[in-house]
Amino acid sequence: MKTRTITQGVSWLGAVDWDRRLFDSLIPLPDGTSYNAYLIEGSEKTALLDTVDPPMADTLMEQLEKVNSLDFIVSHHAEQDHSGAIPVVLERFPDAKVVVTSKAKGLLVDSLTIPEEKFMVVEDGETLSLGDRTLTFIHTPWVHWPETMVTYLNEDKILFSCDFFGSHIATSDLFVVDEGRVYEAAKRYFAEIMMPFRGVIRKNIEKLEKYDIQMIAPSHGQIYDRPDWIVDAYRDWISDQSHNVVVMPFVSMHGSTRLMVDYLTSGLVERGIRVELYNLAVADIGKLAMALVDAATIVVGVPTVLAGPHPLAAYATFLANALRPKTKYLSIIGSYGWGGKTVETLAGMIPNLKVEVLDPVLCKGLPKETDYAALDGLADAIAAGHRELGLL
Ligand code: FEO
Repeated sequence: MKTRTITQGVSWLGAVDWDRRLFDSLIPLPDGTSYNAYLIEGSEKTALLDTVDPPMADTLMEQLEKVNSLDFIVSHHAEQDHSGAIPVVLERFPDAKVVVTSKAKGLLVDSLTIPEEKFMVVEDGETLSLGDRTLTFIHTPWVHWPETMVTYLNEDKILFSCDFFGSHIATSDLFVVDEGRVYEAAKRYFAEIMMPFRGVIRKNIEKLEKYDIQMIAPSHGQIYDRPDWIVDAYRDWISDQSHNVVVMPFVSMHGSTRLMVDYLTSGLVERGIRVELYNLAVADIGKLAMALVDAATIVVGVPTVLAGPHPLAAYATFLANALRPKTKYLSIIGSYGWGGKTVETLAGMIPNLKVEVLDPVLCKGLPKETDYAALDGLADAIAAGHRELGLL
């Protein structure tokens, strides 16, 4: 993709990664992604905001061929999908200063071995004049590492937000055209990397309220030329308000746990509760993370294997603990052959979750009448909890 003009003197550069399917060797990317950089050419100085993932550095360097001089490389975030090509850009523009927060400087020295003298550290709220254009740097930690900041271009009212408000979508569109599609991708991204830091992100959004933002240009996905809806979506995701939803990640080896999952699902639906099932043998773990953003309740469906929880259920539980969703209730259901410590093991894996644990339902072999009755009791308890939260 060639350089694209956003407005006079402000251009999109970067690379669309149509083929990438995994990030951090962990996060599924069903729709690929993009690494957006931006070039701001002021009347006196020129700044490049972020770079691209190192394998795509050649694309960026081709786009920079016609740029005669570069004064600043603003690095909002030290993760290498944005910073990884800085050394190559510095080879071409050795006099450029790398503009960073003090924490980012340390991370970039460590991970890219950029020499200390190349950096210019900026404080929260500091401005930088490019002549007729002014950059304001706003420190916004934990979107998605502790060093992150965003840049507000005063004259054009554009917020360059890096991962913040980003979405993993590869497309030829410069601006958002399908808000539904971007909402889902942005929520997935929020769930995977920012949900654990909801409190800090709330403060970051409050900090942005004093800026008149007409456009948000993230470093993944498309540019928001009507940004209000994505900011409102973030406000919902970071709020304490959960939704009337039970998320049920489950795995079943011989069908008994699946019978319990299906029975409980019917019971919850009859009680007016939405249920989302994720069969962990086939589930997209990103979709599960996304569901955890809103869900008031998690029920883990887990068979016992080798005297403990099935490893796929343990993985999902570990993930939920790491993502720290605002979920209020949690329970465990499942089948075992002869015994084990499934409940104790899973219960010990969720120290980060501020949940009330509802009585688990475990059965020996196939579920019997008494087990189904216990599942009815669990559905009643979940419904009562959702009523208490004002969701029913
Ligand atoms: Fe897109 Fe946290 O890097």
